[in-house]
Amino acid sequence: MNQSNQNNTPLFTKLKEYANSNPLPFHIPGHKKGQGMDKEFHDFIGTNALSIDLINIEPLDDLHQPQGIIQEAQELAAEAFGAKRTFFSVQGTSSAIMAMILATCNPGDKIIVPRTVHKSVLSAIVFADCNPVFLHPELDPKLGIAHGITPAQVEKALNKHPDAKAVLVINPTYFGFASNLQEIVRIAHDKHVPVLVDEAHGVHTHFHHELPISAMDAGADLAATSVHKLGGSLTQSSVLNLQGNLVDPLHVQSILSMLTTTSTSYILLASLDTARRYLAIHGEEVITQTLALARKARTQINEIDGLLCVGKEWLDGKARYDLDETKLLIHVSELSINGHEASDWLRETHQIEAEMSDLYNILCFVTLGDNEESIQSLIYALQDLAAHFQTKETTNQKNIILPDVPELVVSPRTAFYSETESIPFRQAAGQITAEFLFMYPPGIPILLPGERITEENITYIEENKAAGLIVQGTEDPSVEMIRVIRPKIISRRIHRD
Ligand SMILES: Cc1ncc(COP(=O)(O)O)c(C=O)c1O
Repeated sequence: MNQSNQNNTPLFTKLKEYANSNPLPFHIPGHKKGQGMDKEFHDFIGTNALSIDLINIEPLDDLHQPQGIIQEAQELAAEAFGAKRTFFSVQGTSSAIMAMILATCNPGDKIIVPRTVHKSVLSAIVFADCNPVFLHPELDPKLGIAHGITPAQVEKALNKHPDAKAVLVINPTYFGFASNLQEIVRIAHDKHVPVLVDEAHGVHTHFHHELPISAMDAGADLAATSVHKLGGSLTQSSVLNLQGNLVDPLHVQSILSMLTTTSTSYILLASLDTARRYLAIHGEEVITQTLALARKARTQINEIDGLLCVGKEWLDGKARYDLDETKLLIHVSELSINGHEASDWLRETHQIEAEMSDLYNILCFVTLGDNEESIQSLIYALQDLAAHFQTKETTNQKNIILPDVPELVVSPRTAFYSETESIPFRQAAGQITAEFLFMYPPGIPILLPGERITEENITYIEENKAAGLIVQGTEDPSVEMIRVIRPKIISRRIHRD
């Protein structure tokens, strides 16, 4: 990588120059450098931010057809991420994920995906009218979370579905666990199938050798990467990285354009340009510090009675192939309160806001924005938490099991556009659901639109609801009713897995 080039920020620099030249605007945004807007908001946001709140006027290039400063910034980003092409997204990783799927799957095509996918994957499956072949991720009975998928699972699925058009992998997972991505890519590429990576939680991986391998380094074809989550850009700004010859970059560009607003925010684009510079120039150094803080925190958390924070000893060489140690998954099942209650208590008592909580865990991210002081505040709060909620009783943690993946009777898209009716969930066996049903933990969909509801599903959901697990997704928040497809609509059958 050419470090001197990486110091340049063509987009941000030009944007500032343009704003400083003080042009007289007769175009949108109509607030015109903040002069036509609410004063309190104006004063809070400040004149600098408002002066670069611009859109694609002629001197500033166009994200839909970049030929100037956006193209230059994207080229520098591609160099930094080790990609052939990088596309900026101002609609998060969600729209980059949709673009990956729409660029590789046509109506009726199969795509191999883990069951734990983000909702943007399921939305894209509906938009593209493709058929998911689901892989069950490994479940962790102790932690109550889902991990990644294994190369063996991918190989088996590709042998069974040689006509699949893409394999999608979440790498690393929300909790920081990574699959053996290099091996998955090797298996898929042997069959000329592209690998798409949901890298929402892995922007930093490319910039440090002690983190799990990044999608581009592992040879994946496309990676949707949230720069905003862990890479220092502003919320909603992400990149889509591409390499190899299996996916046509021109096709990806036109799909992205179809999905993207024509009023692209230059504040977001500039934040991508500068986050790339920060990662490329300082990434290695600041991630070394972040890792040191996270490792120290992990050791200190494990010294607290009643808490467990898993580390690399949890790896098994399969679905738990590697770990991003900056993610602190803190298991609280030895305390007298559950993860949600622990998270609420930390907020109310110590003003600490965790990234996520479920029944058994709270998840805290250590990032480039942390320092000794913030970590010590977390440790102190966790010590206080454990002291308050210590219990001698053995906790009644339920081992997480999942029912089999249900039969997909019609495509998710057919289900989505069908005529439906709402019926009591307890009487829904044999019907085809038009709604999602998720269970937390571990956040896996139990039912997706188009799948046939079984007695086993109903018993499973009822038992888990009674055990205190959270079931969500139906229009009816109590999950007493479920929307199913009216029988006469079901005309287009699809494959059974
Ligand atoms: C695993 C995963 N994939 C994709 C996304 C979507 O990313 P974004 O919020 O950047 O659209 C998220 C967001 O939380 C996520 O957790």
